[in-house]
Amino acid sequence: MNAFDWDTQTKIYFGENKIKKLGGELSKLKVKKVLFLYGHSSIKKNGVYEDVIAELNKANISFVEFSGIDPNPRYTSVLEAAKVCRDQGIDFILAVGGGSVADCAKAISLATFYPSGDFWEEIVKPQKGHTLEKYIPIGVVLTLAATGSEMNSGGVISNMETKEKLALFSPFVRPVFSILDPKYTYSVPANQIAAGVVDAFSHCLEQLFSPERNAITSDGILIGLMWSLRAIGRYTMDNPNDYDSHANLMWTATMALNGLSGAGKTGDWATHQIEHAVSAYYDITHAVGLAIITPYWMEYILDIENVDRFYLVGSLFGVNDDPEITAEEALEDAKIIISEVRDFFVSLGMPTTLSEVGVKKEDIDNMVKSTFAKEGLETIGSIKKLNREDVKNILLKAL
Ligand code: NZQ
Ligand code: ZN
Repeated sequence: MNAFDWDTQTKIYFGENKIKKLGGELSKLKVKKVLFLYGHSSIKKNGVYEDVIAELNKANISFVEFSGIDPNPRYTSVLEAAKVCRDQGIDFILAVGGGSVADCAKAISLATFYPSGDFWEEIVKPQKGHTLEKYIPIGVVLTLAATGSEMNSGGVISNMETKEKLALFSPFVRPVFSILDPKYTYSVPANQIAAGVVDAFSHCLEQLFSPERNAITSDGILIGLMWSLRAIGRYTMDNPNDYDSHANLMWTATMALNGLSGAGKTGDWATHQIEHAVSAYYDITHAVGLAIITPYWMEYILDIENVDRFYLVGSLFGVNDDPEITAEEALEDAKIIISEVRDFFVSLGMPTTLSEVGVKKEDIDNMVKSTFAKEGLETIGSIKKLNREDVKNILLKAL
């Protein structure tokens, strides 16, 4: 089991009406001027906008609104908002929305103090986010259960000009607090709930598929989270006003990528890196890409050395390891497990091929290039290292 540092830092306020904590929390932090960051129209339709404004007014905190953050948040929004932060003397960013708004807040937080350089080329691409010491602290009011961004130190930004979608990491941008009111997710459309379930499932799966076999506690937590997602995923889509299913989904998605569930493990993350390149090109929903690519990736990396990882996933579907069986039989079991995973995604309404979301064969080479956009990257993945040729093969199979 790998050594690890885990600093929770993020205070979680979980439950109905926890928004009432917002004003007091900002006052305690002695915040003077907030950048109130949000997406398009959802928070104005479901009442979250009014709740946030009421809390800011109650605490007598001035704020500047910055809206229009897109799903797959744009680098251009980061630069524009960073300028607003500098011009307006912002000392706190409040991200109100899903993972895209939270991620964008993280990049803005760091880019604010990098006005003269090329933030994309000099910080994002070479993965130097953690070297920047100046930042604006962040708080989140979460409205969509999916990414775990509300309790982690990563943010993913799309550069539409260079067609690259890359993650940025810094311990400083892990939110100071996150407010998780499950009722705020009642208005999320069924297809976005499904996307959240798939994303969280994939975060667990990517962490299970690690070369370390000795982080048994983390494996157990991850399987438990995946079990919850199977139990409540479809149900939440079909029951938009069920508090407990939204609540469990919200906490499961947070736990799936907050550092605790994957403690002591490297994680694989190849599927995520390949998907980010696909959404950089086609601007598709992150989890739709994951649902398509994951089973093809599982087929590609399967061998007798890693079949134990497949059996962990198989335990969710009643396909269990048996010491008596031959290697060939184990590999056959793994194929059944892969089709169970694919069927689970299909049961949530996910497509199974890239062609269905408009991906064209002629863009595959460019998507491979985009997968390896980070400076110095030659292989991705850890359970099996994949080079450019491997990624191309997986994308071609998924087409
Ligand atoms: O813009 P608005 O109008 O708010 O609509 C949003 C958006 O269209 C809508 N929505 C959000 N809350 C809602 C709602 N609609 C109705 N009611 C509500 N309560 O949902 C749409 C999608 O929102 P978005 O924030 O994009 O979704 P998600 O939370 O899935 O975030 C996806 C982004 O996070 C990145 C993905 O790559 C993608 O860019 N990821 C971030 C990670 C992280 N920071 O750790 C890890 C993930 O693997 C992922 O890569
Ligand atoms: Zn993800």
